[in-house]
Amino acid sequence: MGRVEPFGDLRARVSDRSARLAVIGLGYVGLSVAACFAAARFRVIGLDRDAGRIAALRAGRLPLAHSEPGLEDLVVAGARTGALDVTTEHGDLSGADVFIVAVDTPIDDRKRPDTSNLRAACDTIARHARPGSLVVVESTVAPGTMRGVVAPAFARAPAVAIAHCPERVRPGRLLANLRGMERLVGVDDAEVGALCVELYSTILHAPRRSRRGRPPRP
Ligand SMILES: NC(=O)c1ccc[n+]([C@@H]2O[C@H](COP(=O)([O-])OP(=O)(O)OC[C@H]3O[C@@H](n4cnc5c(N)ncnc54)[C@H](O)[C@@H]3O)[C@@H](O)[C@H]2O)c1
Repeated sequence: MGRVEPFGDLRARVSDRSARLAVIGLGYVGLSVAACFAAARFRVIGLDRDAGRIAALRAGRLPLAHSEPGLEDLVVAGARTGALDVTTEHGDLSGADVFIVAVDTPIDDRKRPDTSNLRAACDTIARHARPGSLVVVESTVAPGTMRGVVAPAFARAPAVAIAHCPERVRPGRLLANLRGMERLVGVDDAEVGALCVELYSTILHAPRRSRRGRPPRP
């Protein structure tokens, strides 16, 4: 019997844009990422726990402290075409195939990573993800966080793939960086790596490279 490839179908659906995307956390990074994927013809649902932020977006305002060149036009266009929708309701994540986590990951008053937002986001996704889904963490995290925090959240959902693709944007150049700067994707399965490359190639115009090897255990 041949090898079962649970993510092969998702890769094809990313390629033809029929895969549905969810972005968790609609701050600087999440909103920009959601708008870029919507502009790349995906249907995107953006979730944020901040009801005021969602209300502002629904009213056509960007809930960000400083402006980002091109972002408002992209968000407005996404809302107008129906490609980009926003919500505070966890249940609206049902039906998504790809979950992108862009929640804030601060440090606490003793300068230790505070992963509570990340844990909460992963727990929310784990309740709604179907087998064969992909979860990509874009938030900045300390070494060992994927193994120690993210993977355990999906321990009961073994058919969900996880990947880390840290965001590299700079404020004031979010869209330009998102579309033009090379990304690093961390996975522990080549098939999932190929899926991530397919996904990010829909918004990113940068050369592809591949390097294999496991990072050392922390
Ligand atoms: N802003 C940048 O320029 C930049 C650059 C590189 C990397 N990053 C990293 O990207 C991540 C996001 O940064 P940001 O600047 O967009 O943060 P942000 O504070 O602007 O936005 C984070 C959003 O996530 C939401 N959120 C938090 N927990 C949630 C949950 N459990 N469910 C739903 N929504 C939740 C918050 O309400 C907020 O709207 C961080 O890890 C940051 O370090 C940011």
